[in-house]
Amino acid sequence: MTLSFLTRSVDDTRRLAAGLAPLARAGDVILLAGELGAGKTAFVQGFARAMGVDEHVTSPTFTLMHTYSGRLQLLHVDVYRLDHLQEIIDLGLAELVDADAVALIEWGDMAEPVLPADFLEVRIEYGKDDDERAFSLRPVGSAWGARARAVHEALAAWARP
Ligand SMILES: Nc1ncnc2c1ncn2[C@@H]1O[C@H](COP(=O)(O)OP(=O)(O)O)[C@@H](O)[C@H]1O
Ligand SMILES: [Mg+2]
Repeated sequence: MTLSFLTRSVDDTRRLAAGLAPLARAGDVILLAGELGAGKTAFVQGFARAMGVDEHVTSPTFTLMHTYSGRLQLLHVDVYRLDHLQEIIDLGLAELVDADAVALIEWGDMAEPVLPADFLEVRIEYGKDDDERAFSLRPVGSAWGARARAVHEALAAWARP
């Protein structure tokens, strides 16, 4: 099942992410897929703010991972530029996601996710205008599958037909 949404500005994307944040639980993994400039980091900024993170969220491109404290611990990982699946495996992402954290992982179009079986995929694509982005949210596994309706309701304002 895929839920479809549309945002019309970078702040709109931050608001959409903020709308999702109340549904997050410890142990969640959110996979952000999309090209460079799609809005993955903007999404994390809005999400983190709504989780009570005061710090400014920046892209962890060179350090690969930033951690933030909010309502829950946040792990912000960017593996977009990693070329080899092995580098991602070496990060040990699955082990990093402990019971107290929500992991948000910026991801390119890697063939095969080397991640936990349970995650929410947030795919962002460019829209027809410069400031438009199409969001496709796909729960994989039961953890997010059970919240699909709640996601649909929380983000109804951004629904795309
Ligand atoms: N609707 C939108 N949502 C998110 N970003 C947008 C949108 N419209 C324009 N932008 C711009 O696109 C860029 C997204 O950057 P960023 O979040 O760093 O992308 P990514 O992390 O996917 O590479 C920003 O410059 C932002 O201002
Ligand atoms: Mg980014």
